[in-house]
Amino acid sequence: MTGSENSAAGPLIRSAEDADRERLAAIMDATWQVIWAPSLPAHTDRFWRDNKVARMFVDQVWAFCLVATIDGAVAGFAHLSGDQVTSLHVDPAVKRRGVGRALMAAAEAQVRSLGFAQLRIESEVFNASAHAFYAALGYRETRRFVDDVVGQDVDCIEMTKTLG
Ligand SMILES: CC(C)(COP(=O)(O)OP(=O)(O)OC[C@H]1O[C@@H](n2cnc3c(N)ncnc32)[C@H](O)[C@@H]1OP(=O)(O)O)[C@@H](O)C(=O)NCCC(=O)NCCS
Repeated sequence: MTGSENSAAGPLIRSAEDADRERLAAIMDATWQVIWAPSLPAHTDRFWRDNKVARMFVDQVWAFCLVATIDGAVAGFAHLSGDQVTSLHVDPAVKRRGVGRALMAAAEAQVRSLGFAQLRIESEVFNASAHAFYAALGYRETRRFVDDVVGQDVDCIEMTKTLG
């Protein structure tokens, strides 16, 4: 497949495979460095690295993930649980190319097919770019709460979209 053919088609979505694990963990480590590490205490970054948190998470949930590819390469993934996307990560190298939008569209279709009337996401208050992304996709704030993020209490926001 040539790059131009795939670019015209946009990101492709498929279910995650066992062989994707390393790449998914690498993407999660990359977004951690951009979004979470600068906003959390240094000890959380040490804990993240020392305990290979991304790899542990991916090993547990990969079978319930959707993956986006560009030119055959994995560019991002979303983990679904019930009516919630618990995790959404796009390789920072390909941000703003429609990967997140394509993953959320596929997640919404999957959640709708399971009979849910809404899709929810949760994110830290400091993650303003994520809130702008979800707002652009029609999500609205429905709740504020405090959650444990790598052992740290962090203010979080729930955003919800009613599925048509
Ligand atoms: C947030 C994230 C998932 C967005 O994925 P993406 O592939 O870069 O986003 P898309 O290209 O699909 O963007 C779709 C629309 O969302 C909005 N948007 C996306 N990123 C934005 C940003 N940083 N600021 C403002 N609006 C943004 C825009 O309206 C965009 O459309 P446009 O590019 O045509 O203007 C991705 O940047 C990411 O993985 N971030 C780090 C991890 C994270 O925060 N995950 C969510 C945790 S809950």
